[in-house]
Amino acid sequence: MKLPPYDTFPNLSGNNILLREIQYSDLKHIVEISRYDAIPAKNVEEAAAMQEKINQNYKDGNSIHWGIADKSSNTIVGTCGYYRGLDKGEGELGCILLSQFMGHGYMTAAIQLAIQFGLNDIGLKRIFAITTQQNDKAIRLLERIGFVKIADLEDDEIEYEWVKTNPSTLATSAISPSN
Ligand SMILES: CC(C)(COP(=O)(O)OP(=O)(O)OC[C@H]1O[C@@H](n2cnc3c(N)ncnc32)[C@H](O)[C@@H]1OP(=O)(O)O)[C@@H](O)C(=O)NCCC(=O)NCCS
Repeated sequence: MKLPPYDTFPNLSGNNILLREIQYSDLKHIVEISRYDAIPAKNVEEAAAMQEKINQNYKDGNSIHWGIADKSSNTIVGTCGYYRGLDKGEGELGCILLSQFMGHGYMTAAIQLAIQFGLNDIGLKRIFAITTQQNDKAIRLLERIGFVKIADLEDDEIEYEWVKTNPSTLATSAISPSN
């Protein structure tokens, strides 16, 4: 296991996207998707305060949070990361896209990169995600990448676990965002 923090923040490069550290200058673009403990930011100041907590969690080895940047513009289109479980060799994935960038495959490509990093660099034994029964887009995303439902939880939540059944589920070269 090699937990955060790392000597340099791990930037992960795909065909059309880069998973990178979020900069202060990005925050005004991503207020709408800035959250901490599921509470949304109301303005850029709150987003900045949340980012500081996120950075501290990274320094403490508890999480890693990437901005997903479109390579051609370096614009952040969404975020993803591992937010819980690292100390136990597990990674709970979370992710969110700015609404105008949904439906192009950005998150499919980003999660594939995050899974590869989780397995090969952090050394995770299990990768999972929790969503709700009603979240059709998240369910389609997870199943597209090779997650399977493993449990019904309270409050309509469901747990999905990534299972390496088919090498093509991590073929990032095969799925690149269309813009
Ligand atoms: C969950 C969420 C990230 C999914 O967004 P998304 O846009 O559907 O995901 P992707 O970026 O991977 O795009 C996939 C969609 O684009 C389409 N698409 C278009 N071009 C594509 C391409 N080149 N490659 C892959 N998919 C492509 C896919 O068909 C798919 O649409 P569909 O589900 O209607 O079939 C988004 O709905 C969101 O941010 N929700 C709020 C937060 C949330 O619920 N997070 C989940 C927590 S587990």
